[in-house]
Amino acid sequence: MSDQNTGQIDNVLQEDRLFPPPAEFSAAAKIGSMADYQTLYDAALNDPDKFWGDIAKEEMHWFKPFDTVCTQSGKDAQWFTGGQTNISYNCLDANIEAGNGDRAAIIWEGEPGDQRTLTYTQLHAEVCKFANALKSLDVGVGDVVSIYMPMTPELAIAMLACTRIGAVHSVIFAGFSAEAIADRNNDASAKVQITSDGLFRRGKVLPLKATVDTALEKSPTVKHCIVLKRAENEIAMTEGRDVWWHDLMDAASDDCPATPLDSEATSFILYTSGSTGKPKGIRHTTAGYNIWVKKTFQWVFDWKPEDVYWCTADCGWITGHSYIVYGPMANGATCLMYEGAPNHPAPNRFWDIVERHKVTILYTAPTAIRAFVQWGDEHIKKHDLSSLRLLGTVGEGINPETWVWYHETIGNKNCPIVDTWWQTETGGIMMSPLPGATATKPGSCTQPLPGIVPVIVDESLTEVGANQGGMLCIAKPWPGMLRGIWGDEKRFEEQYWSMFPGNYLTGDNARVDDDGYYWIMGRIDDVINVSGHRLSTIEVESAMVSHPNVAECAAVGRPHEIKGQAIAVFISIKDAEPTDELRDELKLHVRKEIGALAVPDDIRFTQSLPKTRSGKIMRRLLRDIAAGRETAGDVSTLEDLSVLAKLKSDDKS
Ligand code: WT7
Repeated sequence: MSDQNTGQIDNVLQEDRLFPPPAEFSAAAKIGSMADYQTLYDAALNDPDKFWGDIAKEEMHWFKPFDTVCTQSGKDAQWFTGGQTNISYNCLDANIEAGNGDRAAIIWEGEPGDQRTLTYTQLHAEVCKFANALKSLDVGVGDVVSIYMPMTPELAIAMLACTRIGAVHSVIFAGFSAEAIADRNNDASAKVQITSDGLFRRGKVLPLKATVDTALEKSPTVKHCIVLKRAENEIAMTEGRDVWWHDLMDAASDDCPATPLDSEATSFILYTSGSTGKPKGIRHTTAGYNIWVKKTFQWVFDWKPEDVYWCTADCGWITGHSYIVYGPMANGATCLMYEGAPNHPAPNRFWDIVERHKVTILYTAPTAIRAFVQWGDEHIKKHDLSSLRLLGTVGEGINPETWVWYHETIGNKNCPIVDTWWQTETGGIMMSPLPGATATKPGSCTQPLPGIVPVIVDESLTEVGANQGGMLCIAKPWPGMLRGIWGDEKRFEEQYWSMFPGNYLTGDNARVDDDGYYWIMGRIDDVINVSGHRLSTIEVESAMVSHPNVAECAAVGRPHEIKGQAIAVFISIKDAEPTDELRDELKLHVRKEIGALAVPDDIRFTQSLPKTRSGKIMRRLLRDIAAGRETAGDVSTLEDLSVLAKLKSDDKS
């Protein structure tokens, strides 16, 4: 066991199950064995310039060839300098030139059930028109366009139109408040806003334009607001400022050649909330981001032209940027896009979509999977999911029991699961199984992708040994890495590069096991320190979730006079009553699974846990509640404020 001050984290949960890829999957996969993976990994490690240089030449269109593959290291790394390319060109024109213009790019389904399919040729025409529309509002290279829209094809069209002309998009998830929009607009000095009249959510219309109107009162840099007609709700249009999407499109030509852009030109910014403080505009660039999302999409999803690929994220998050729009489209993939809630009109909506559209690859989040478990298998069993061949997860660690449920109930035991670890900052997937090669272990994101060199260190920056958790850093630059925080060079350096100079600090804890598999142990700030033993949140939570009556669990530390910290868990239960007997049983269960050390002092039953709008549990708020403190800090990213009030009034053991 480690001592208190080394920064190491004890690994207390043992997971021994191993799931090799099905033989037929491997036989048909592009990377079909660990030997193939190792060859790629070694090539990227031994000569990164050759590895990435060859890929970039082969798989991207260059208006002007690059001079250097990677210059500098650490935070100053730059990729493909001297070259000029265009992401929108690589996602659209290149596919048409390759003869795939008639392939579906987007198969879209609205929440009310309306459907549209856009081929690459059709999408190209729409993007060109909208790019011209933006130009007509004086938007050019480097101007920031703020996008606050429902998950309609027009959201992807707006993004691709921006990157086509070198405008920098800042997509804001359409669940954020007026205040949050204004903050982001001001931080970015956004010039144009794009939104819609409304948004369908569980059958209701949310008035997006009204929210934007309030935000724009406090966004002085925004000169125009483009409004898509979606929900036909009544809205106010401000003369001189607001224009209808369709009016602009009617007037626009569909001839808009892509602007050649420097490799390091900013492609977009995306705001991510630090757990405290103001949101950071994570800045990505053009060529490196493009090639990173293109290759990782091929590797991780073993993508084939006949696949119908569905990523259930929203384009308001990096997952939507990289694995709904840019990664799949750079490859010419057919992407399913769904506008609404997973339980509208009923909890079987996703499975109905999978069956009707014969989805082959499904990429979703643990928070959604936990909800499906809770809603019951009967909603799934009535659908034919046999088109599925591959499943993925992203956004949080997945508890092993939830993983096994996903494997059995959704995957019918024959779909590999790719548990993909990455961040807004990393641009694309960093660690993941390769589905035709890697034998998976439930709860592990397995191994780094080619080009990624992880290192786990303790507080003295010494690399820790196998099974000793520590801080996860990335030792070498990779093409998709963030290039900055918009307008805050100092914060960029402090947050990611100063602790371990030359290495990127992820902010996550992790351990690597005896087989070289990585296990993400949660955020560094979330570690629980009980009597000098540092425990990771995910391990305590996974032990809890392995009890049949636990649907979801969040574990946090609260001050304890003797132990330093005691464990408090917040649990939502299924098929059970919140009784003291159940509390005792759960304590016993953890004692059996992990040991006495991890037995929580407090077990609090709750109907729901506080989550960010992207579905991550907000442990920071729970820490305050567990300690009996007033919740401090920014709650603007909290999905449902009423959860907090309920938690505070809930009964405590
Ligand atoms: C943080 C990044 C990745 C795109 C969407 C979220 C956590 C993400 C996993 C995973 C364990 C994960 C990490 C990471 N995380 N994926 N597979 N296993 N943890 O992007 O909002 O920037 O969040 O999400 O803590 O640092 P993000």
